[in-house]
Amino acid sequence: MKILVTGGAGFIGSHTVVELQMAGYQPVIADNLYNSNREVLAGLKNIVGQEIPFFEIDCTDEAAVRQLFEKEQFDGVIHFAAYKAVGESVEEPLKYYQNNIDSLLVLLKIMRRFKVSNFVFSSSCTVYGQPDTLPVTEDTPRQPATSPYGNTKVMCEDIIRDYVHSKPALKAISLRYFNPIGAHHSAEIGELPNGVPSNLVPYLTQAAAGLRDKLVVFGDDYDTPDGTCVRDFIHVVDLAKAHVKAIELLEKQPEANYYDVFNVGTGDGNTVLELINTFEKANGVKLNYTIGPRRPGDVEKIWAQSDKANTVLGWKAEKSLADSLRDAWRWQSKLVES
Ligand code: WQD
Repeated sequence: MKILVTGGAGFIGSHTVVELQMAGYQPVIADNLYNSNREVLAGLKNIVGQEIPFFEIDCTDEAAVRQLFEKEQFDGVIHFAAYKAVGESVEEPLKYYQNNIDSLLVLLKIMRRFKVSNFVFSSSCTVYGQPDTLPVTEDTPRQPATSPYGNTKVMCEDIIRDYVHSKPALKAISLRYFNPIGAHHSAEIGELPNGVPSNLVPYLTQAAAGLRDKLVVFGDDYDTPDGTCVRDFIHVVDLAKAHVKAIELLEKQPEANYYDVFNVGTGDGNTVLELINTFEKANGVKLNYTIGPRRPGDVEKIWAQSDKANTVLGWKAEKSLADSLRDAWRWQSKLVES
């Protein structure tokens, strides 16, 4: 089965391309390289032992996407391509709504034209905002998004749900990610943040590598065990494998029209300080960090209940926080060497 992976040169997309290939699928990447580069393609080749077909395409470009579907007969689409920086989305909301919504609309329209009926969408736990009860299940009410980025995820989920309801012969799954971290154990691919990382782990590994003066922990006065925020940190390879399981489920789905949503997290919550301590212990590295003020918009605590993914997708996270942080450090160390 040939699977189009939009944003397949990105962090989660590239790791999903590897798992698709290993599972016997034929992944094809469409990526405009806005948030990635061609080095990722070389890394993928080193891992899977062959070139992954790549098309430099902007998914909001309907003509380009149509030409791709004319050229390649896809059996499914996994849609990662989107802008994802929370802070940037607050500064430039129209850029985020245009890109993240238009790319989805273009893909759904072209898929229908070419009768491609399996679709996996990259969503996020950000749709839950600050949940009242924890862990969050898929039935936990979504809250008003805390950023335009988060709102595009809520809107895209609603677009897919309403579209499937119109019976277009589409089977779709939204995967709500928690906090993806780590890298492929080969250190051939990993997270490549643009500029100063806004996410915790890439900033942490850069600080540990001496590329940043120190890590600032954004607040230790939250209502949590040690005062720092709680998150569900999941190894990016575990997350990638959930996408393969989602495609497998869609393939087997007898209904012509189907939509469901799954939390993809470990089911464990760890504080920022627990992550720091785990990083230091797992890698034998001392991290220079200080406690600073809270970051506006941060959710205090969130972690997943992923029972539905376990039972319906047949997926469960296997890697530990220490595994993720060892792989993240190996990847950072390779970046520094190269
Ligand atoms: C995690 C924790 C920070 C940096 C966001 C998006 C989510 C997804 C992942 C795209 C928080 C703390 C961070 C730092 C810190 N994005 N932190 N110092 O905000 O949970 O989730 O990224 O798919 O949709 O919302 O991730 O890594 O930015 O922060 O103390 O230098 O680390 O306060 O508690 P977040 P994060």
